[in-house]
Amino acid sequence: MTNYKFQPAADGVDPKSVPYHTFASGAKIPSVGLGTFGSDNYTSDVIAQAVVGAAEVGYRHFDCASVYGNEDAIGGSLTKLIDGGLPREELWITSKVWNDMHGAGQVIESCKKSLSDLKLDYLDLFLVHWPFPNSHGKGVDVSSRDPHAKPYIHEDYMRVWSQMEELYDVGLVRHIGTSNMTIPKLELVMRDARIKPMANELELHPHLQQAELFKYIVNRGIVPIGYSPIGSPSRPIRDRTADDTVDVEDPVIVAIAERFGVHPAVVCVKWAAQRGQIPIPFSVKRPQYLSTLKAIVSEPLTEADMTAIAGIDKNNRLIKGHVFLWKEDQTWEALWDLDGTITPWL
Ligand SMILES: NC(=O)c1ccc[n+]([C@@H]2O[C@H](COP(=O)([O-])OP(=O)(O)OC[C@H]3O[C@@H](n4cnc5c(N)ncnc54)[C@H](OP(=O)(O)O)[C@@H]3O)[C@@H](O)[C@H]2O)c1
Repeated sequence: MTNYKFQPAADGVDPKSVPYHTFASGAKIPSVGLGTFGSDNYTSDVIAQAVVGAAEVGYRHFDCASVYGNEDAIGGSLTKLIDGGLPREELWITSKVWNDMHGAGQVIESCKKSLSDLKLDYLDLFLVHWPFPNSHGKGVDVSSRDPHAKPYIHEDYMRVWSQMEELYDVGLVRHIGTSNMTIPKLELVMRDARIKPMANELELHPHLQQAELFKYIVNRGIVPIGYSPIGSPSRPIRDRTADDTVDVEDPVIVAIAERFGVHPAVVCVKWAAQRGQIPIPFSVKRPQYLSTLKAIVSEPLTEADMTAIAGIDKNNRLIKGHVFLWKEDQTWEALWDLDGTITPWL
């Protein structure tokens, strides 16, 4: 117990003014969340402190994952906030099962570990982080491969999914979803799942708009959560290639940012929320996370701005996933089923 008393910041945003998406359950997820993956640049403690600061300025939605290695520290912050007077029901906490916990019973074990680390008795949303059981060590480069790596095997994924359904049945998680999926993979899961995915987390920023996949999930009532909404300018070296473009340097984004008097990062987040996905920008810096939240509740982008940004898609995937490939001579495109069929084992 600390003497901390939760106090909304005077210069913050009223969380009630933040728009939200409504799930079929009636639950409301705030239309912006704070990412918590520090990209190897920030310590767990710094990120955990940012969670408290972000809640004070009005964030209620936090995107966590076991693989980020900081759920225990974030759990300390959540306890501080809740004990300090912020009602648990006002928070939206997402977590994810990592690729090395896809075996029988392991998804449930991973969820229980996340709950224990986060010091919560339920999660608002639990996601399957990647559709492959392939893992890698911390800080490896793009040539690193899991010697036991496999392609997407639908029967295996459904064994993961049935554990997600079980977690939902017993109330440990209130919603379940997928991440890093493609249309052909989702088609199979939608066909075979007893409880359909309720949300899908995918990379979305002005230079990777994934129009077809976005439309597919929205049309099926799946809530789209957009990761790396700013184009992940501080992502790990393993996720960088020479051809990558930079969203925050795009002339269209920069011109709009100048007109609004904000950083281009803020325009990316504004665009995301206005387009209908839920951006989850990462930041541990108060002026950044505050300006991003303010962007969601301030004067919207014009229709001309939205059209201009729709025109700068470069199909530039940043989180390519090389380390999850299962064959030596493959390129990362194999993970993303570009020809509309699931890439086979051989
Ligand atoms: N499901 C998945 O597989 C998956 C994959 C990747 C990410 N995610 C989630 O998505 C979250 C966000 O993605 P991300 O961290 O890759 O990238 P991001 O949110 O696109 O970029 C974060 C970086 O942008 C800069 N920034 C943030 N707000 C800013 C502002 N207002 N003004 C100027 N610069 C600003 C910061 O850079 P500096 O720190 O250098 O200031 C920050 O580190 C992650 O934390 C994680 O929760 C999920």
